[in-house]
Amino acid sequence: MSAHGPAVLEAVDLCRHYPVRRGLLQPVQTVRALDGVSFTLAAGRTLAVVGESGCGKSTLARLLTLIEAPTSGALALLGDDCSASTAAQRREAQRRVQMVFQNPYGSLNPRQKIGAILAEPLKIHTKLDAAAREAAVRALMTRVGLRPEHHDRYPHMFSGGQRQRVAIARALMLRPAVVVADEPVSALDVSIQAQVLNLLLELQEETGVAYVFISHDLAVVRHIADEVLVMYLGRAVEQGPADAVFSAPRHPYTRALLAAAPRLDAGDSERVPLRGELPSPLSPPAGCAFHTRCPFADGECAQSRPAPRIVDGRLVACHHAERIGG
Ligand SMILES: Nc1ncnc2c1ncn2[C@@H]1O[C@H](COP(=O)(O)OP(=O)(O)O)[C@@H](O)[C@H]1O
Ligand SMILES: [Mg+2]
Repeated sequence: MSAHGPAVLEAVDLCRHYPVRRGLLQPVQTVRALDGVSFTLAAGRTLAVVGESGCGKSTLARLLTLIEAPTSGALALLGDDCSASTAAQRREAQRRVQMVFQNPYGSLNPRQKIGAILAEPLKIHTKLDAAAREAAVRALMTRVGLRPEHHDRYPHMFSGGQRQRVAIARALMLRPAVVVADEPVSALDVSIQAQVLNLLLELQEETGVAYVFISHDLAVVRHIADEVLVMYLGRAVEQGPADAVFSAPRHPYTRALLAAAPRLDAGDSERVPLRGELPSPLSPPAGCAFHTRCPFADGECAQSRPAPRIVDGRLVACHHAERIGG
């Protein structure tokens, strides 16, 4: 139980490591794409996962949607452990967790009409007859702001925003408990972004669906997040209630991301923009992985990795969290 009712999704120390070989005669190395992420998500709530490209966000999304299995760690959906499940249980679980991708054109079959795309999950997972499927498809199309004539059109005939409405409708078709949205508005114009975000919020209010909303852009996430998980090189560096994290970020990385988000500039002179490049996840820096880019780093940061601890109502993995922000 969290403070907001029973968990629909619970991750404990999720890891996903990939063996890679840089060249034919090179030894196999390990990319720790995801290296110990935990969270609890309740019905009707939104967890925002943020971090630069390469931090492991999409890897987390693939684990949460059961597209890939974790290297280690546990995932529970509606209280059921996913690792122990049979093929039939996995199919049932996959129906409960749906995904929306950044590029809906890549995820929508270009040879299927919208009506057929939306009816497909019902065909696979329910016993509804054709007329009942059709009625459900038409109702949800209206709900996400698509017009009746869109039913017989192909994905390429739509704008990016409309295609994302189709993808959202498809994700909600089976009334999932959780939708994992991986950069769902990142490819859209700013004006269209706001419309799609508002649609997601309305649908959450109506259905009680929980979201894992992934974005590299903190400005986008601010409007919809209840909880925030800030990731750096596969680990959570700051994690907690959105209010706390946005109003007084404690981790230098969170502060840098906020400073980089143009619409959030609060004129805080202490904020230092992000410098340098993300280190290779094949050889992450020793100690605190962020120390090579951190304006607050000292000898301790280069030597020992800070364990996450509670500071000011959120988890922070930083040796200096007490004196930063607040
Ligand atoms: N299948 C894979 N094989 C090897 N490395 C991978 C694989 N998938 C992701 N990675 C690596 O894991 C890291 C995290 O990737 P990803 O989860 O896509 O990050 P993000 O979505 O935050 O940009 C990157 O360094 C990426 O190259
Ligand atoms: Mg990604």
